[in-house]
Amino acid sequence: MEASAKACANIALAKYWGKADPKWNVPAVPSISLTLSQLVTETRVRFDPSLSTDEVRLDGRRASAAEAARVIAMLERIRREARLRSSAKVTSHNHFPTAAGLASSASGFAALAAAACAAAGLKHDPRRLSALARVSSASAARSIFGGFVELPAGRRGESDLSARQLAPADHWNLRLIVALTEPGKKKVGSTEGMERSRKTSPYYQAWLEAAPGWARTIKRAIRDRDLDVLGAAMERSTLAFHCCAITSDPPILYWAPATLAALATVRGLRERGVSAWATMDAGPHVKTLCRMGDAYRVRQALDRTPGVTRTWIAEPGPDVEVIR
Ligand code: DP6
Repeated sequence: MEASAKACANIALAKYWGKADPKWNVPAVPSISLTLSQLVTETRVRFDPSLSTDEVRLDGRRASAAEAARVIAMLERIRREARLRSSAKVTSHNHFPTAAGLASSASGFAALAAAACAAAGLKHDPRRLSALARVSSASAARSIFGGFVELPAGRRGESDLSARQLAPADHWNLRLIVALTEPGKKKVGSTEGMERSRKTSPYYQAWLEAAPGWARTIKRAIRDRDLDVLGAAMERSTLAFHCCAITSDPPILYWAPATLAALATVRGLRERGVSAWATMDAGPHVKTLCRMGDAYRVRQALDRTPGVTRTWIAEPGPDVEVIR
């Protein structure tokens, strides 16, 4: 009745932004990601008949009501499947570089799905774990798998949609340089932000039409290990989803001045012949993809960029792992 699991965060190369079905959390566009080894969440779950309610602790503190509700919603689905009544104690730690300012919901819900299923005695294969994690947070569906991962778009009511691995971590020895720009929590969470874009951005329909093409290009570029093709499509995907966010009502602008400064640094590197390509999520930080041999040069250039407070180098990471 007790198990732990470790899952790594992932960065979307082709972005997910928008839901085909908010109830089942089904994405409206395909996304492709790279799982990152240095950004790990470790979660322990114990089903215990002596507990009267579920207890959730995150990074050594009691979870807020909103955080606990999302965790308990997943526990409820698992209890129903396993025909289990006991409440659970959930303890989760993010082993992220301190003050990372990066999303941990992907690694968090992937680790929770794997640990809670193992503790409940459910022997789900990775596809089923991925579908379970997706209902809590779509990017978590991708963190079940290591390396390069695809989460297809789905249809309304498609409750079992899951991610799949395109290639393992050792397929391509890329590096991702994370450049932190601004401290603090993101202003509008991704769930809320993408719903606002769906309902109000005049460019949302154009995003839905264009996003699958970038995902297809990125998939082919991963197969061919073609960084220039991957990087160009990745930058278009991120700029297009930010365009939807910026043109929502009220507008959502995730960028800080340092975000644009870092983008200029990355463009400057390319002008000097380095294949470096940037992407941003629902926040101001810039993540730059490059070859292993260029990682230190790219990091150094970002370290010198005004407003960048910290950088580090991440590499392709493994599948979720259950540790008893
Ligand atoms: C911009 O997976 O956090 O990072 O499914 O509502 O939990 P929910 O959203 P979430 O969204 C991630 C959005 C993104 C792009 C991406 O990771 O694909």
